[in-house]
Amino acid sequence: MLFDERPKERREDLYDREREIDEIKGNVGRSIILITGIRRIGKTSVLKVALNEVDIPAVIVDARGLRRNYSRADLYRLIAHGLTSSLDKLRDLISGIRVMGLEVELSWRGRDSLSLIELFDKLNERKIIIAIDEAQRLRGPQSNELKDALAHSYDNRNITFILTGSEAGLLHDFVGVEDASSPLYGRFYFEVKLDRLSRDQSIDFLSKGFEQLNLRVSEEVLERAYEEFDGIPGWLTFFGNAYSSGISLERIKIMAVRTALEELKNMIRDNPRRYGLVLRAIAEGKRSWSDIKEYVEEREGSMISSSVLSNIIRNLEDMSVISRYEFLDPVYREAAKLLE
Ligand SMILES: Nc1ncnc2c1ncn2[C@@H]1O[C@H](COP(=O)(O)OP(=O)(O)OP(=O)(O)O)[C@@H](O)[C@H]1O
Ligand SMILES: [Mg+2]
Repeated sequence: MLFDERPKERREDLYDREREIDEIKGNVGRSIILITGIRRIGKTSVLKVALNEVDIPAVIVDARGLRRNYSRADLYRLIAHGLTSSLDKLRDLISGIRVMGLEVELSWRGRDSLSLIELFDKLNERKIIIAIDEAQRLRGPQSNELKDALAHSYDNRNITFILTGSEAGLLHDFVGVEDASSPLYGRFYFEVKLDRLSRDQSIDFLSKGFEQLNLRVSEEVLERAYEEFDGIPGWLTFFGNAYSSGISLERIKIMAVRTALEELKNMIRDNPRRYGLVLRAIAEGKRSWSDIKEYVEEREGSMISSSVLSNIIRNLEDMSVISRYEFLDPVYREAAKLLE
């Protein structure tokens, strides 16, 4: 079903993305593939569909739930969880890893502990894919061990790492191919960037989705949904679902903005006031550095230093919230107007 709100797993449930899936499949065998794109663009779906179509066992690690200053134990637990979920496909490969019931037990302390490098060496005996969804979450004090293990596996062509990230700048930072101090410095990766759907594709996607539900929706509504949600498949799916249960487009917009507002607040929770002001300035149409500076200073009643402001703007760009003083998602722009 095209409007199923979960990440898609089969190509028939996914609208288009043929080229991207084929590119991913064609590059399995390279060491690192990145799938990048803004929130709700379909990264997890494209990843899952591609993995379902290749004949190589895959481990999916979902880094989304990782807390910010995660511990080594958290990291090992996350990876063990990914391994556990794909245990059937890997049973023989990981027989050397202690398996307790259905839990793969990696231990992060003690004499008989298996390090990530040793784990990857075991997995490296055969072709395998290790996919890490929202991999930018792995940034942090514990990330070096993982990056060392990635770099160690890089030359052994058997493991392909596929990393997705909605915060593209942060994901690139994490991989660090341009950072001389990163273990992955200078390594090559293949990147698949997911873009929004075009007007025609969005309308086609929506009408096919409604057709599956035996609903006829006027062209005008489809056009408006495209305009409001800017061809972002996740929002179009959200719209399709809600509209088919009788909710008006206006109401759906409000629901979407509320959801986006919560996400934004969560992203800027370290410094909500300043980030909030910068975001509001951009949402209200400030398109230059000096206009934003003036807007923030007027409301704060004090000066903001240039380095602080550039830092905020760069972080918002790295998190893929804005680019060139504009929001990448119009729903986020509306949400930003509601920040206090
Ligand atoms: N091409 C597509 N065809 C149909 N549905 C899609 C498509 N792309 C994404 N979706 C739907 O949009 C929503 C978001 O997709 P998905 O979770 O794969 O995106 P994502 O980029 O991983 O999002 P997030 O940034 O939240 O992790 C889901 O409901 C998914 O089913
Ligand atoms: Mg995702």
